[in-house]
Amino acid sequence: MYIRDLGDVDAPALRALACVNSKRGWEMATQEMVSVWLPDMLGEGRVAAAGGFEDDELVAVVSWASTDRDDTWVCLVLAVRLGRQRRGAGRLMKQYLIEQARSHGIRAIRSVVHRDNKAVWALNERLGGRFATDDPSKLWYQCVVPVD
Ligand SMILES: CC(C)(COP(=O)(O)OP(=O)(O)OC[C@H]1O[C@@H](n2cnc3c(N)ncnc32)[C@H](O)[C@@H]1OP(=O)(O)O)[C@@H](O)C(=O)NCCC(=O)NCCS
Repeated sequence: MYIRDLGDVDAPALRALACVNSKRGWEMATQEMVSVWLPDMLGEGRVAAAGGFEDDELVAVVSWASTDRDDTWVCLVLAVRLGRQRRGAGRLMKQYLIEQARSHGIRAIRSVVHRDNKAVWALNERLGGRFATDDPSKLWYQCVVPVD
C-alpha cells in the first residue's frame, strides 16, 4: 500500500469507499463521514486527509485537522475498505498521521471513539492511546495518542 495526500480529485473514490456493513448509528455515522462529509470538506480545503492505495484503488483513509491547541491535532476519521480490514492498513494510516504530526511539532492526536468500536479502540491503545470520558452515558470516549 502507498499513501498520499487526498484532494478534491479523490472525492468520487471517497464516495465509493464502503467501510461498514451494519446499521448501528455510530457505524453509519462513520460511513457518512467518509463518503459524504469528507469529500465536501476536502473541496472546501478545511481538513487534511491521506489515502492508502493498492493497485491505484483507494482502500483506506485518515483525515485530520488542527485544534485550538498548537500542540494537538484531531483525527476526524479513520477507515479501511470492507474486505481489506484487519490486514494492517488502519494501523499504517494512523502511523502515517503520527509521522505527519511529529514533523509539524505536534505532541498529541485526539479523537472521539465509541465505546463499542473495539477495532479502533484496540488500534489506538496499541499506539499508546489513553481514553477518558465526560459523557454521562459513557458511550463516547476522548482518545489521546501521544506523538513521541
Ligand atoms: C477501525 C479500522 C480503521 C481498523 O483498520 P484495520 O485495517 O481493519 O485494522 P488493522 O489491521 O490495522 O489492525 C490494527 C490493530 O487494531 C486492532 N483491531 C483491528 N480490527 C480489530 C477488530 N475487528 N477487533 C479487535 N481489534 C481489532 C488490533 O489490535 C489490530 O492489531 P492485530 O491485528 O495485530 O491484532 C477498520 O476496522 C474500519 O475501517 N472500521 C470501520 C470504520 C471505523 O469504525 N472507523 C473508526 C471511527 S472513525
